[in-house]
Amino acid sequence: MVEAMRILSGVQSSGKLHLGNYYGAIRQFLQLQHEGEALYFIANLHSLTTVRDAAMGRELTRETAAAFIALGLDPAKAILFRQSDIPEVLELYWILGTVVPNSNLERAHSFKDKTARGVSADFGLFAYPVLMAADILVYGSDVVPVGRDQIQHVEFARDWATKFNLTYVRGYDPADPLGKSGHPPGILKLPEARVQESTAVLPGIDGQKMSKSYGNTIDLFGPDKEIKKRIMSIKTDSTPVEAPKPVDNVLFQLLKVMTPPDELEEIERSWSAGGKGYGDYKKMLLDRFHAVFDPARARREELLRDPAEVERVLTDGARRAREMAGPVIAAVRRGVGLA
Ligand code: TRP
Repeated sequence: MVEAMRILSGVQSSGKLHLGNYYGAIRQFLQLQHEGEALYFIANLHSLTTVRDAAMGRELTRETAAAFIALGLDPAKAILFRQSDIPEVLELYWILGTVVPNSNLERAHSFKDKTARGVSADFGLFAYPVLMAADILVYGSDVVPVGRDQIQHVEFARDWATKFNLTYVRGYDPADPLGKSGHPPGILKLPEARVQESTAVLPGIDGQKMSKSYGNTIDLFGPDKEIKKRIMSIKTDSTPVEAPKPVDNVLFQLLKVMTPPDELEEIERSWSAGGKGYGDYKKMLLDRFHAVFDPARARREELLRDPAEVERVLTDGARRAREMAGPVIAAVRRGVGLA
């Protein structure tokens, strides 16, 4: 029997989900839940590096879980859970950390970007990639769907798994990690990052990458009025109504991801022919937004009124995830001499 491909990813629950999160990652997660055994978790331990308010942390975790279910995650198929419900992750985090070179962590984006922006670094932020590697390795994940900014972290997980295997498995050959040609297999499985071609890095309303830290997001679940305000304030240039519009334009890029191909043709035609103003396209975008996300927005409202249901999904998810982590952590403990 061929084992199902194990797919794993996490999202930080450090803020409101926005269009960039959806088209950069979440949409891909939802597609992949049909292709293998998918595990998705709310990275609430990682969020502790930025969210310093308990009530807010709890609330964001619950909201993120509700959002995933509302957007189409099927809890009967995919496993949805809270990172902090799996103690095995923290155990592997420590053990793995003993083979991680500091030099790797010093050049990790999570650390470099934030310190460059003047966020003072603490141990949690420095060790962020080690926890992420433990997340990935503890379930024996094959594939890790991520946005482009996270590829480096998945590569670290591969490197450290290799280093761990070399350290603790006598005769381990990195060229034969599964032990298919006579070598002993590794204890930790090597994961692969998967970035879908269609995974877009979306621009925010000011033209920079859409990101919570730039304050330029369009939130998936914001109030109608706020969504409208944000869309109407998308930065445009002074191209006249009748003139063709430049394609390097936030509005155009957002319309492109949110419009089905048959309707998109007409937009592309008028965009390059001229005749419509940016105001018209903003109205179109607002309509598209509601057409795509209103069902999920309504479902999320229902779920937030029924916290017990979300809790049930997360508890059940944690139980299933721990079943997968158990054998891996047992092998790790044996391998290093703790058991
Ligand atoms: N660091 C990821 C992010 O910021 C979230 C994350 C935590 C993650 N652990 C992970 C993603 C493991 C993939 C696999 O989005």
